[in-house]
Amino acid sequence: MDPVAADLSLADLHPALDDPSLTSMNFLNEIAGRFPDALSLAAGRPFGGFYETEALHRYLRIYRDYLRDERGFDDDRIAMTLHQYGRTKGIVSELLARNLSLDEDITVDPESIVVTVGCQEAMFLVLRALRADDRDVLLAVSPMYVGITGAAKLVDMPVLGVADGPDGVDLVDLAAKVAAARADGLRPRALYVVPDFANPSGVTVPVAVRRALLDFAAQEGLLILEDNPYGLFPVGDQRLPTLKSLDRDRVVVYLGSLAKTVFPGVRIGYAVADQRVVDPVSGRIGLFADELSKIKSMVTVNTAPVAQAIAAGKLLEHGCSLVPATVREREVYQANLTRMLAGLARSFPPGSPVTWNVPAGGFFVVVTVPFLVDDELLAYSAREHQVLWTPMHHFYAGAGDIRQLRLSYSYLPPDDLDEGIRRFASFVSARLQFRGAPSMA
Ligand SMILES: Cc1ncc(COP(=O)(O)O)c(C=O)c1O
Repeated sequence: MDPVAADLSLADLHPALDDPSLTSMNFLNEIAGRFPDALSLAAGRPFGGFYETEALHRYLRIYRDYLRDERGFDDDRIAMTLHQYGRTKGIVSELLARNLSLDEDITVDPESIVVTVGCQEAMFLVLRALRADDRDVLLAVSPMYVGITGAAKLVDMPVLGVADGPDGVDLVDLAAKVAAARADGLRPRALYVVPDFANPSGVTVPVAVRRALLDFAAQEGLLILEDNPYGLFPVGDQRLPTLKSLDRDRVVVYLGSLAKTVFPGVRIGYAVADQRVVDPVSGRIGLFADELSKIKSMVTVNTAPVAQAIAAGKLLEHGCSLVPATVREREVYQANLTRMLAGLARSFPPGSPVTWNVPAGGFFVVVTVPFLVDDELLAYSAREHQVLWTPMHHFYAGAGDIRQLRLSYSYLPPDDLDEGIRRFASFVSARLQFRGAPSMA
């Protein structure tokens, strides 16, 4: 477009709008749109093979019956609850608290829960609250989910990466980063971490490291932002305690998402923010959740009551536990991971320069290759080999020379997954043969 015809300049808009973290999700969707025949090992979407439209009606009816039978609401009050503006902190906090108690051994007062439009809004609210002035910085285990990078950019909060290492968070690096930030006059406010089957790395933090991390946070006055969208999808039945369930000092703000356990279109997430906040003038003590709620009232007013009702219906249908509600999905993910690892092992036998990690659950495998992985290479892979994956540089906040990519095994049905891995292997083999050539794009 002719620049003279433009009405606004990007240079005059918020700097985040020019940041790669805000464009990476759109870029990946755009590539998928340009190559509709390409199989996607990129999308971190949950498997959709069990979705039924009729279930939405059932969930709404279940929630209506709960309001009537357990809460004593009459028809008018039920209609108002579903149709009117609602409480800013949400209308299903009691059910989420029951769910957290059953599935995560987290005991929490429902008043500490803010129901949000996806976990993404919860991240934004927490970061907005913590970024009080330009000394405040966020620490985040790197590589990190682009949603946290983007949310931090939008509130002008610098993010300092902390190495993940084999334990999902390198405590030595964390201590060094905190000390260095303080020496620079900065105020590290929180560490963002996905302890269970992280996106993108797939890594899980061992229990002893969880405990040490909590001790460190308590000693240093640092909050931990625990994001846990994949915790219900382990390989096998073994699950580790969440940081929040081990938290005795109220240092953990727990970020929940129902995107993978209910469905993403419902857009329900939440923050558990039971920290006590003092008003230094009046001495009054309140909950951090109530401060987040003030911000939420100016961002989304309240989370759609209809969406909360549908999510609540699914919770109620399974006695508020999402473990039995996700048995079939868990089986799909376990089988898909086995297929993906077998496909990779067939394609790249021992001695190959191509390696990958073996996650203990979640949605993602990270593949390391002996060549640079950038967006041009992804476009080449989509065009010539009809397969999509995610370049890992998107998760390193702009670092160059990344030789890794993320494969997702959650979304494709088994036959497509096998074919996707076959295409991926032929793409990598072609790239290995052309090593040394200037560009494949
Ligand atoms: C680590 C992580 N956090 C949060 C989210 C987003 O959750 P929601 O869809 O509830 O906003 C995702 C989605 O992929 C994710 O991978």
